[in-house]
Amino acid sequence: MNDKLIIFDTTLRDGEQSPGASMTKDEKVRIAKALEKMHVDVIEAGFPIASPGDFDAVKAVADAVKDSTVCGLARALDKDIDRAGEALKGANSGRIHTFIATSPIHMKMKLRMQPEDVLAQAVHAVTHARQYTDNVEFSPEDAGRSELDFLCRVLEAVIDAGATTVNIPDTVGYNVPQQFGNLIGQLIERIPNSDKAVFSVHCHNDLGLAVANSLSAVINGARQVECTINGLGERAGNAALEEIVMGVHTRKDVFSCNVSHIDKTQIVPASRLVAGITGFAVQPNKAIVGVNAFAHESGIHQDGVLKSRETYEIMRAEDVGWTTNRMVLGKHSGRNAFKSRLKELGISFDSEEELNETFMRFKDLADKKHEIYDDDLQALATATNLDAENESIKLVALKVCSETGETPNAEVTLKVDGEEKHAVHPGGGPVDAAFQAINSILQSNTVLQLYSVNNITTGTDSQGEVTVRLEKAGRIVNGQGADTDIVIASAKAYVNALNKIMAPEVRQHPQV
Ligand code: KIV
Ligand code: ZN
Repeated sequence: MNDKLIIFDTTLRDGEQSPGASMTKDEKVRIAKALEKMHVDVIEAGFPIASPGDFDAVKAVADAVKDSTVCGLARALDKDIDRAGEALKGANSGRIHTFIATSPIHMKMKLRMQPEDVLAQAVHAVTHARQYTDNVEFSPEDAGRSELDFLCRVLEAVIDAGATTVNIPDTVGYNVPQQFGNLIGQLIERIPNSDKAVFSVHCHNDLGLAVANSLSAVINGARQVECTINGLGERAGNAALEEIVMGVHTRKDVFSCNVSHIDKTQIVPASRLVAGITGFAVQPNKAIVGVNAFAHESGIHQDGVLKSRETYEIMRAEDVGWTTNRMVLGKHSGRNAFKSRLKELGISFDSEEELNETFMRFKDLADKKHEIYDDDLQALATATNLDAENESIKLVALKVCSETGETPNAEVTLKVDGEEKHAVHPGGGPVDAAFQAINSILQSNTVLQLYSVNNITTGTDSQGEVTVRLEKAGRIVNGQGADTDIVIASAKAYVNALNKIMAPEVRQHPQV
């Protein structure tokens, strides 16, 4: 039997529960489209009851995505389920995911409920969710620390009530592979109606075992894995989608299911998109998507790879979407060459206007930087997407003086709701001066939580890509900016973050 392994991505829900990894509605839609392009089966878009902003984001994803199932999370409460049902109305294919804790510690200390009442509430929730859709998932939260007999009773009852997927979460990342795999095998064997539902797993990475536990569960019969791009997620994160997919794909000899429907070449672009939007950089040695994942440093390895690639490589970098980052274009390249390279990279725009805008940015960049690489094009496309979000604050001009022995000074012009405003401010360094000048105009009362700079390509003429994370009254946003001048890139990122935090539709972070 070679079944399909259902890939359920929860980057937009559990991933967003990483402290600081908040996303706007538009950013969620952009990530959801990237996941759809990868042919991910189910996209968990958020927790609609959490806030009006969360509801809007799930609705926007449900309306935008056509080929993947869009899922909304709900506690086992009618009001949560009604909200999820409402948010998913526009989906081609929608799923309600409802959950209640089943471990002794959660039932006693958190829910303060008797096990029999938990069981009844779980059944009621699934029955209620079935009024909205016949695609209902149930999770016994903290299943990894629940009693086997009770878990069997709850799962049998919810399957009878109409749950089509039962998901076994190791909520606190406590399990180890053999034990967790064994748990899944036992559940499937002991629950009389287990053939009526797909068994799923959702593992957290507190002991660094999320992927190992998930794969062990797959060997024992699980046919859905819940995972996130780059392993983002609550605390130490969730199982990384790229590792699950490539593990099953690379070791076909071990798994009796497949991920042949997943377009693996979209893995690296999706990883970059998520890292850029959330400001959570990928560690260089991260499997599959780290910059060193396919780099061979030792002479013995290099020699082996040159003689026969398979000596040290079990996967091909290009199969997961690494491009050679070719020097593609220069100052004299025309619009057609530009357009066709964007197409090869899988970058598309909603309108011809956005393409023209990106081409103009490309020409500007080519004036400053002679060789334009694929990664530069990705950054230009991101900048156009950011602009398309109709920012009400725009950076018009920035001049910063920085001199040995002198206090740096920044002069900034912003356009705020169409009106130009100027300010001059000193600072501890050029970036600090620029930020203070901007803030003296906007009086944003925000707290800077993160400032990070990465070079997009190599060389001192590389564009710098800056991420800025701001917090205000419990709300957290991330801003991005890129430029060959890192002070300007920083100012762009700061303005981008301020636009988000000062916009009325900004969403509460789900943890608040
Ligand atoms: O970790 C967990 O238990 C969850 C559930 C809501 C599935 O995220
Ligand atoms: Zn979780």
